[in-house]
Amino acid sequence: MASNGFALNDNVLAAIRAAELREFEKKIPTSRALHQESREVMTRGVPSWWMSAFYPGTEIFVSKGSGCHIEDVDGNRYLDMTQCDLSMVCGYGPPDIARAVAERFENGSHFLLPTEDAIAVGRDLARRFTMPYWQFTLSASTANTEAIRISRFATGRDKVLIFAGKYHGHFDETLVVPGEQGMKPEYQGLPKDAAERTIVVPFNDLDAVANALSRCNVACVLTEPAMTNMGVIEPDDGFHDGLRALTRETGTVLIIDETHTQVAAYGGLTRLWQLEPDILTTGKCLGGGVPIGAYGLSAPLNALVQNNLDTDETGGVTIALGGTTYGNALNMAAARAALENVLTEEAYRRVTGLGAMLADGIDATIATYDLPWRAYRLGNRSGICLSKTLPRNAVEASSCVSKPLNHAARAFMANRGIWEPIYIHGPSVSFAHDEDDVAAYLGVFEDFVDRVVREHN
Ligand SMILES: Cc1ncc(COP(=O)(O)O)c(C=O)c1O
Repeated sequence: MASNGFALNDNVLAAIRAAELREFEKKIPTSRALHQESREVMTRGVPSWWMSAFYPGTEIFVSKGSGCHIEDVDGNRYLDMTQCDLSMVCGYGPPDIARAVAERFENGSHFLLPTEDAIAVGRDLARRFTMPYWQFTLSASTANTEAIRISRFATGRDKVLIFAGKYHGHFDETLVVPGEQGMKPEYQGLPKDAAERTIVVPFNDLDAVANALSRCNVACVLTEPAMTNMGVIEPDDGFHDGLRALTRETGTVLIIDETHTQVAAYGGLTRLWQLEPDILTTGKCLGGGVPIGAYGLSAPLNALVQNNLDTDETGGVTIALGGTTYGNALNMAAARAALENVLTEEAYRRVTGLGAMLADGIDATIATYDLPWRAYRLGNRSGICLSKTLPRNAVEASSCVSKPLNHAARAFMANRGIWEPIYIHGPSVSFAHDEDDVAAYLGVFEDFVDRVVREHN
C-alpha cells in the first residue's frame, strides 16, 4: 500500500517501461520488419509522422479493426482505449456506416455538387448543436481555419485569442505559446510573425480575457468548452457566462471547438451547458471514421457570409472558404449514417454511463492504494489526475501529468492487450464498448498501479 505522501520516481518508471518494451518487442517482429522497410520510402517510416510520434517503443502496423478492438500484423489484439484521439469513437467498421459508405462509393463518392445526405446531416447538426447553418471541410483544423477567417471578415480585426494548454489543429494561428517576452511560435517552420497574430491567456482567467479584448484588436476567441488536450481542465462556474458577456460587449466572435467534447454529451457541452457560440467547430468522429470537419454558424454570421460569397458568374470569391473535396458525397453519407445510427441520444446515455464506470473504477484503485490522485471525469473519458485538486489552467494541469508514468503505462498496457497510446488524453470509451470492456481495462489498470506502487517501495 502507498500512503498519501507517495511521489513518483522517474527512474523507477523508466525501468518499468524498459522491461515492458523488451517484452513487447518480442511480440511484434512483423511490425518491426515493416518499419524497417517503410523507412525506405517514408519519413520515419510512416505516412504521417504522428503515427510514429505518439507511440515511441510501441510502433505497430495494423491489419484490421472491429468494434472497439484493433489487431496488428503479428496477430496481437488490443482493446482500444483512445480511439485515434477520439476520431474513431463510432468503432471500427460499424455495420450501418460501412453499408452507407460502400453504397455511396459504388455510386460515386464525390461530384463537387451536393447530395441529399447533406440536408439530413445539416438538419441533424442544427438540432443537435443548436447552431442553424453548416459548412463542411475535411478536418477540424480546417474548420477552425475557416472559422477564424470568417471572424476576421466579420470584425475587420486580425488577432485570435486562445487559452494556454489548447490544441485546435496544426495551423499557424494556434501554434503559439507564451514566451518570456510575449508570445512565440510553438514549433519550427512557422512565420516569424505568427505570434503577433495570437494572444494566449490562462483558461478560467476572465480578467486576462477582458484586458486582451479591450486592447488587442481581437477578431475571435477560440476555445474548447472544457480543455481536453492537457488532461481535462473544467471551466469555473460562471466562466462561460463571463466569456460570452465579454465577447458580446467587445463585438468579438466566440468560437467553441467541440472536436473532442462532442463525445462528452449529445450535442456537445454547448448543448449541455447552454452555451451560445457564434461559430461551433467540430470534426473527428462526426464522419463515423471518414475524414470530416464542420462548422455551424449563427444566423447573423451566416447572413454575412452568404452575402459575401460571389459566384463564378459575378466575380471573385470574397472570403477564402471551401476546398475541392470538402463536403463530399462520401463523408456526407458516412456522417448521416453515424448520426442516425451510432451517435444517437440514447447511445450517448449508455456511453456516458460507461464513462462514469471507468472513472469510478480509476478512483476506486486510487483509493485502494491511498494515492494522492483522482480521476478525471468528462462524459466518456477519464484518466489520472496526479493531484487531489482538479487543475484550473495549463500551469496547474502540467503538474497533474507525468510523461514517464504515461510512457510506462503505454508499454505495460500494450503487453496486456490494451491500446492506450495517448495516455495524457485518455482512457476513453467508444460507442462500441460495453461493460465487460471497461471492466477488462480496469483490471489491467489496477495491475499497472499495483506494479508502480510495489516498485516504488
Ligand atoms: C480540440 C481540438 N480541435 C481541433 C483538433 C484538430 O483536429 P484534426 O487534427 O482532426 O484536424 C484537435 C485535434 O486533436 C483537437 O483536440
